[in-house]
Amino acid sequence: AEGEESQSQSNDSTKKRRQLAVVFGLWYFQNIVFNIYNKKALNVFPFPWLLASFQLFVGSIWMLLLWSLKLQPRPKISKPFILALLGPALFHTIGHISACVSFSKVAVSFTHVIKSSEPVFSVVFSSFLGDKYPLSVWLSILPIVLGCSLAAVTEVSFNLQGLWGALISNVGFVLRNIYSKKSLQSFKEVNGLNLYGWISIISLIYLFPVAVFVEGSQWIQGYHNAVQAVGKPTTFYIWVLLSGVFYHLYNQSSYQALDEISPLTFSVGNTMKRVVVIVSTILVFRNPVRPLNALGSAIAILGTFLYSQANSASKKKKEGGEIEEEK
Ligand code: 3PG
Repeated sequence: AEGEESQSQSNDSTKKRRQLAVVFGLWYFQNIVFNIYNKKALNVFPFPWLLASFQLFVGSIWMLLLWSLKLQPRPKISKPFILALLGPALFHTIGHISACVSFSKVAVSFTHVIKSSEPVFSVVFSSFLGDKYPLSVWLSILPIVLGCSLAAVTEVSFNLQGLWGALISNVGFVLRNIYSKKSLQSFKEVNGLNLYGWISIISLIYLFPVAVFVEGSQWIQGYHNAVQAVGKPTTFYIWVLLSGVFYHLYNQSSYQALDEISPLTFSVGNTMKRVVVIVSTILVFRNPVRPLNALGSAIAILGTFLYSQANSASKKKKEGGEIEEEK
């Protein structure tokens, strides 16, 4: 019977691994589709605030449909849960809109190269908040910083707002992760998809009024220009709609993956996603890339792998120490 049990356990873990591989595959694919259609839309309709709001709107409607058709268990909403979400959702909004502003100003690949430096922000902010990191972790962020700098100074599409947008997006997402961990501690029973659903809804409420204020007066003229540039309104609608649906889908997949893996594995997965996105958008949009720029990007990305190695080694050591102490 023991043999049978271990057999069924290993079947279970193979099944789990297969499911996780599917979720990862979906996450990457959906992210590529999002990045392509988002940029296509931005190229003819350069209003990232409206597009970013629309993407959150699609996610909100999607979740309301899932909940009302009972395809997803509806999480019990309580005041403390919503209050706990206000911080993470605000940082999610900041991360999303600043990435979109960046996408509207520079090549998608450049935004993602800069976004690959997210671990640097994570280390800096967490140590402000009291976490300690060994020297190896600090050293591993050097190539990330150097690589990104090299990529920035050699980027053909370089634009200061594009650079700042991507950097602020890193700050937003890192603070979102730190605050989610803190404030959502007591709501662990809410699954990743439901959590993300509520984050989308609150983010939309934050973002849309600001979007109207920032660029609302230009939308109508912008729409006419976009339709003229594309030729057919339907084509433009399809691009915008695909960007919205795939924005929600890739986030949904990433939150589902996060349910199954550690944050560290998640961030490695996220870096690999950027490699795939960088390569595919360069191919689709035929962006010129200087050799030094490619080198800088490669160094930065290699740095994030070194960082994750150093980080996981230091975590293992810490956990080992804790077990020793408990004894
Ligand atoms: C966004 O609009 O939120 C960007 O696509 C950045 O998202 P990422 O960090 O998930 O790639």
